[in-house]
Amino acid sequence: MRRSPPNGESLRQIVHPARAAPLFREREAITLLALMANDKWEDFRATNRANWDERVAVHLGSRFYDLDGWLRDKPGPSRRDTEALGDVTGLSLLHLQCHFGLDTLAWARAGAQVTGLDFAPAAVTAARDIAQRAGLAQRAEFVCADVYEAVDALGHAEFDIVHVSLGALCWLPSVERWAAQVGALVAPGGRFYLHDGHPLAWALADDRPELIRSYFEEAEPLADDSGYTYTDSGGPMQNKRQYEWNHGVGETVSELVRHGLRLEWLVEHDWTVWPHFPWLVETAEGTWSTPPGRPRLPLSFRLLASRAARDKVPE
Ligand SMILES: C[S@@+](CC[C@H](N)C(=O)[O-])C[C@H]1O[C@@H](n2cnc3c(N)ncnc32)[C@H](O)[C@@H]1O
Repeated sequence: MRRSPPNGESLRQIVHPARAAPLFREREAITLLALMANDKWEDFRATNRANWDERVAVHLGSRFYDLDGWLRDKPGPSRRDTEALGDVTGLSLLHLQCHFGLDTLAWARAGAQVTGLDFAPAAVTAARDIAQRAGLAQRAEFVCADVYEAVDALGHAEFDIVHVSLGALCWLPSVERWAAQVGALVAPGGRFYLHDGHPLAWALADDRPELIRSYFEEAEPLADDSGYTYTDSGGPMQNKRQYEWNHGVGETVSELVRHGLRLEWLVEHDWTVWPHFPWLVETAEGTWSTPPGRPRLPLSFRLLASRAARDKVPE
């Protein structure tokens, strides 16, 4: 299986001493490859950030996010999310890749002290503004940073809950590098809660149930120039290009476990929360599935993981 190159440890697996060019010692070869891979990631990231920055204004005005309705109705987290995490009153909660923070702020309404992190400056500015308008600024902080640099950006803080919600992993080349950040951000005794699109769905063509890309993580991204976003409003964007990667469920779980988390439960759903494909049908308010009578597909998945409490030091 090919692993994504930006992470030094992945590269170590690729550049086995026996395969290294004779002119380089292994360490030099690894350093060179890591620099090349990082350069590529810098470019991919800058392209994706421009794309996401431009989406913010479109999404803020969309029926999909319905910001006015959200400010008026003051929703908390969904019932399924509340069932997953229970009472969060007084807990610290970090929401990675938070966009403009509606999901983040829902947890603040439920009583958590929340931090949202996103790499798009326009998203973070909007999130801070929405927190003010919703009267939640005292319980919410938003940080602009790459998720791969979250530990440093957050000053090595640890959180009772780390949360990632839909449409997050596909923007990242290496699930291993992501899991290293997540593992370091969950406090001892804390939990990690993920709900994302299912990698089998990401591997399918948009208009027909046919696999057109790998289910597993690959080094090369999928480049998409469609220029449209998933909400209802807005024409083609100026910053059309976006890069995406897929990660198998097993890869994601294995990397979380390797980085110190214990899997509590994992469930694959035959629904997702947006019309990922035009042939999906809305089955309950806000969820889309394959039409009745058609084979069911996994469209999203959720997992809860935990970090062991620090052992008591014997007297
Ligand atoms: C589909 S949105 C997530 C939606 C979010 N769950 C919500 O509730 O609105 C994906 C987010 O990931 C962010 N993102 C993408 N790549 C990132 C990276 N490398 N570091 C931090 N944020 C990133 C984008 O700016 C965007 O806000």
